Amino acid sequence: MKLLFVGDIVGSPGRDMVQEYVPRLKKKYNPHFTIINGENAASGKGITQKIYRELLESGAQAITLGNHAWDKREIFDFIDDAPLMVRPANFPEDTPGQGITYIKDGGIELAVINLQGRTFLPPLEDPFRVADELVEEAKKRTPHIFVDFHAEATSEKQALAWYLDGRVSAVVGTHTHVQTADNRVLPGGTGFITDVGMTGPYDGILGTDREAVLKKFLTQLPVRFEIPKKGRTQLSAVMIDVDKASGKATKVERILINDDHPFFD
Ligand SMILES: [Fe+2]
Repeated sequence: MKLLFVGDIVGSPGRDMVQEYVPRLKKKYNPHFTIINGENAASGKGITQKIYRELLESGAQAITLGNHAWDKREIFDFIDDAPLMVRPANFPEDTPGQGITYIKDGGIELAVINLQGRTFLPPLEDPFRVADELVEEAKKRTPHIFVDFHAEATSEKQALAWYLDGRVSAVVGTHTHVQTADNRVLPGGTGFITDVGMTGPYDGILGTDREAVLKKFLTQLPVRFEIPKKGRTQLSAVMIDVDKASGKATKVERILINDDHPFFD
């Protein structure tokens, strides 16, 4: 069983990359499941219903979120009618939406869990304990469990992966927008990468217009961060091979598509 996960879609340049390359990646690798992190999909902050649908039409079966989940106000109008979308499960109790969902394809069921780190991010419920509960719940249904851990600190992402090693098929880190080269399968059979990386503007800073980011660093004045509409773009993803019977990962392959790393069909 193969699982394609595409890292943080940033604005329309990221969405264009999804439309262009997800079908080509699907043709090349033939994944059973495709999951996309969409928390930056609407102008870099949040997601709209139209974009949620668009990402599903582009070939995703589930959408994960993160710290920007609530940035577009309309999310409150549709999140409870978006069964294929997960927001961090360790958000406070009574938060709208869900932290786990199940998707099915060809007789395989996959649990998709979203969690958020607490290091250099707002204080939330303990993602480790919440993971324990959700993994136990998911295990009753399926050995195939995928976790998008949206976190700032590399240490926290590695810690959760080791904590869940042997209990889930994969833990992939998101949020920091730079793909790390540590893709591997941990000894217990959990596929891992510290950060999948970002899908969007290639010549910005983490996908944001670099002039604004530079101005912020140089002056410390308040600036408006924009997503560059023109220019070169990239797609960051991972392809995870999972044993159908055991739910254990056997391989994690990095995918990075940009002018310096061209894609070959
Ligand atoms: Fe984020």
